[in-house]
Amino acid sequence: MSIVDNTSSFLRRAWHPVAMAHEVGDGPQQVWLLGQPWVLARLDGELAAFEDRCPHRLAPVSLGTVDDELGLRCGYHGWTFDGTGSCTSIPALGPGATLPPRARLVPAWGVVEAQGLVWLAPEEPLAARPEIPEWGADGVDCFWNEPRTTPVSAAQLVDNFLDASHFPFVHAETFGVEEAALVVNEPVERDGWTVRTTFDTWYRNFDDPLVATGEHPEVQPQRLMKEGAAGLTVVLRLDFPVTGASFSILFACQPETAERTRIYKLMARDDLGGDAGRIASTIAAEQVILEEDLRILERYRAMRIHLDRTECHTRGDRLSVGWRRILAEMAEVAMGTEAGDVFPGLAAAEAEAGTPVEVG
Ligand code: FES
Ligand SMILES: [Fe+2]
Repeated sequence: MSIVDNTSSFLRRAWHPVAMAHEVGDGPQQVWLLGQPWVLARLDGELAAFEDRCPHRLAPVSLGTVDDELGLRCGYHGWTFDGTGSCTSIPALGPGATLPPRARLVPAWGVVEAQGLVWLAPEEPLAARPEIPEWGADGVDCFWNEPRTTPVSAAQLVDNFLDASHFPFVHAETFGVEEAALVVNEPVERDGWTVRTTFDTWYRNFDDPLVATGEHPEVQPQRLMKEGAAGLTVVLRLDFPVTGASFSILFACQPETAERTRIYKLMARDDLGGDAGRIASTIAAEQVILEEDLRILERYRAMRIHLDRTECHTRGDRLSVGWRRILAEMAEVAMGTEAGDVFPGLAAAEAEAGTPVEVG
C-alpha cells in the first residue's frame, strides 16, 4: 500500500471539517466523512455527532427528527436517543420497559463548532484542531468562500495547497509571475504533528489599490508561510512588505466519499477595513484561484497521492514530502505498525527531495 485517498482509514485519527457552522440547524443532518455517513444534531443545547446508523434495523437516523424533550428520534420505529447516544425509549416496548444495553448510537470521538466550521473527529485525533490565530480579533475581517465540491481527493488538494512551484504556471492569469518560479523554502521545519516552511516569493498584487496609481509595483515580494499537519487542512500566513498587509487562509478539506471532497476556504485579513465591496471581490478572486488549481486536478485519472517514488520529487517539493512523512506516521500510529511497513517507498522519496525536514 502506498497511496492515500479519501477512504484511507488512518485519517479517522484527525479533526475534519464536515459543514459550515451556519449550515447546521437543530438537525438531524447527515454529513459524509471518509466514505461513512454521520448524523449531526443539537441535543440538550450541545452539538452531537453519531454514526448515521440506528442500532435497531440500521436505518439512517438522519431521516428522523429532533424533539426538545425526547431527543433524537429514529424515523423508522421511533426509538429515541439522548446526547450521549443512549436509547431513552422504544415505543414498541411501552413505557417503563427495560431497554437493551446495545441500543446505543455510536458517537464520534469529538464534534465542535469553531471559527465558522463544524469539525468532527471519528477517533481520537493525533494533532490539535487547525486554527487561524487572529480569527475574531479587532480590525480583522473574517470571511469564507462558498464550499466547493470536487471529485479531487482531499490529499491531492492539500498537496496542491502546500506547493509553491506551480504559481507561475497554474496562476499566470491571477497572482502567478515568472519571478516566483524558483522555490526558496528553507528551512522546512517539523514540529510535532505539523510541518511548515516560509517561501520568499513574488506575486502580482491584484488587490492593492496603489498599483493602479503607480505608487506600488505590480509585482511585489511576498513572505508565504505554509503549514501542513496530521489531517487534511493547511494554514497559510501571507505577509506583504510593500503594502504592510498580512493575512491568514485556512484551507480545509472534507473527504466525503471516494469520489467527492468538499473544500472550505476561510480567510482573516487586516487590510480590508470591513469594506463589503473589497471583501466580496477578495472572495471572488479566491474562487478564481481555486478554479485555476481544480482545472488541473480534476483532470487526473486517479484521485490519490503516493507515498513512494511513483511521483518524482525535488527539493522544491520538500514541504509536501514532509507532509507525506506525517501521513505515514499517522498510519503507523493508527494501524499499530511501522511507517516503513505501511509506506515502504517513503524514505526513497525523501532522499529524492534532499534531506527534507529539520525537527524543531
Ligand atoms: S431502525 Fe431505527 S428505530 Fe428501527
Ligand atoms: Fe494553486
